[in-house]
Amino acid sequence: MAPYIVLENLNKAYGANKVLDGFDLTIEKGDLVAFLGPSGCGKTTALRLIAGLVSLDQGRIIIGGRDITAIPPNKRNTTMVFQSYALFPHMTVTDNIGFGLKMHGIPKEEAAQRINKIIDTARLRALENRFPRQLSGGQAQRVALARALVMNPEVLLLDEPLSNLDAKLRHEMRVEIRLLHESLGLTTVFVTHDQDEALTLADRIVLMHNGKIVQNGSPREVFENPRSYFVADFTAVRNFFTGGFSENGNVFVTSEGLRIDCTIRDETKTMVGIRPNKIVLNPPNPENFRNSFKAVVRLTSYRGNVIDVLADLGGREITVEVPVVSYNDGLKRSSEITLAWHSQDSILLEQ
Ligand SMILES: Nc1ncnc2c1ncn2[C@@H]1O[C@H](COP(=O)(O)OP(=O)(O)OP(=O)(O)O)[C@@H](O)[C@H]1O
Ligand SMILES: [Mg+2]
Repeated sequence: MAPYIVLENLNKAYGANKVLDGFDLTIEKGDLVAFLGPSGCGKTTALRLIAGLVSLDQGRIIIGGRDITAIPPNKRNTTMVFQSYALFPHMTVTDNIGFGLKMHGIPKEEAAQRINKIIDTARLRALENRFPRQLSGGQAQRVALARALVMNPEVLLLDEPLSNLDAKLRHEMRVEIRLLHESLGLTTVFVTHDQDEALTLADRIVLMHNGKIVQNGSPREVFENPRSYFVADFTAVRNFFTGGFSENGNVFVTSEGLRIDCTIRDETKTMVGIRPNKIVLNPPNPENFRNSFKAVVRLTSYRGNVIDVLADLGGREITVEVPVVSYNDGLKRSSEITLAWHSQDSILLEQ
C-alpha cells in the first residue's frame, strides 16, 4: 500500500537561507510522527508546508493519494495547533472551539453536537463558558487541541504543543495526546526539540539538522543506533572520543591513545560515544568488562535517583551516571575509581 503522506524533495529558502533542503519523507496512515531537532533547523517550516501556510520553492506534497501541493490550506483537511495556542481572547471556550465550524458553514445543530462531543473528549466540561484568560496553560492547550479536532481533520499538525507547560502538566498532556491519538487514530505530526518527548510520544522520530533529515526511525532505532555524532549528541550520548581502527581486531584507538573495545570493526567510523548510564563505577567484577579504566573523581552532583560523576580519565573528562542505591561510601573528590563498560556500549559514529 502507498504511504498516506508523501513529502517529496521539499525545498524552501528565505533569501540565501536554505531552510528545507531536499526534505524527503513518507508517513503511514494513523502514525504519530515527531519532527525533532535544534532551534532553527526547519521543523516549523516543514509543518507549515504540510498545512499549506507556506509556499514551496520546489517539491511535492501528497496526502491520501491526492497531490495537494497547489491546494490552499482551508481545502487540505489538515489542522495545525500553534505553539502559542492562538485562542481568541474575546470568545468563550465553546465559541473558540466552534469558530472553524461556523466559518465552514456547518449547520448550527450539527456544530453543537460536534462541539459537545469534543468537549468531553478534551475534558473541558464545566469550562465551556470561560474566556481564555480564565484558563490555566494546560486547559488552554486542551481548548486549542479541541478546536483542531472538532474539524475532523485527516492530519493533525502540532507545533511544540507542550513547550509552555510545567514538567508535571507536560507529562499529563503527553499521556493525553497518546490516548487521544489512540482513540481517534489520527495521522499526527508534532514538532519538538525535546528528545524525551519525542521518544515517549512518537511512533517514528524524524531527526532534522539544517533543513535535512539526518535520521528517521522508531524511537528505539534512533536511540539505540544513532548514526552520527549529531544524532548521538541529540539523544543524550556523551563521552565522545575521536580516533580509528588502526590496530587489528575491534579495538578503537582514540587520539589520546586509549584503547576502546567495540563489538565490531567499522573503519568508516571515526568516533565513539558512551552513554553516562552505561558506565559502571567500581564494578565488583571488573574482569567481566572489556573496557576498564582508572580515573579520578572531579565532581559529583546529586540528582535524586542518580548521581552524576565527573571524572578525569587520563586528562579527559568523563561523565558517569550512577544509581543512588549503588552509591554507598561517598565518592570523595580526588579519589581513585575504576570505570568500566561493555563492548556493546561503545557506540561507533560518523563524525
Ligand atoms: N517567514 C520567514 N522569513 C524569513 N526567515 C524565516 C521565516 N520563517 C522561518 N525563517 C527562518 O528559517 C529557519 C527555520 O525556521 P523554523 O521556524 O522552521 O525553525 P524551527 O526548527 O521550528 O526552530 P524553533 O525550534 O526555534 O521553533 C530559521 O533560520 C528562521 O529564522
Ligand atoms: Mg519552530
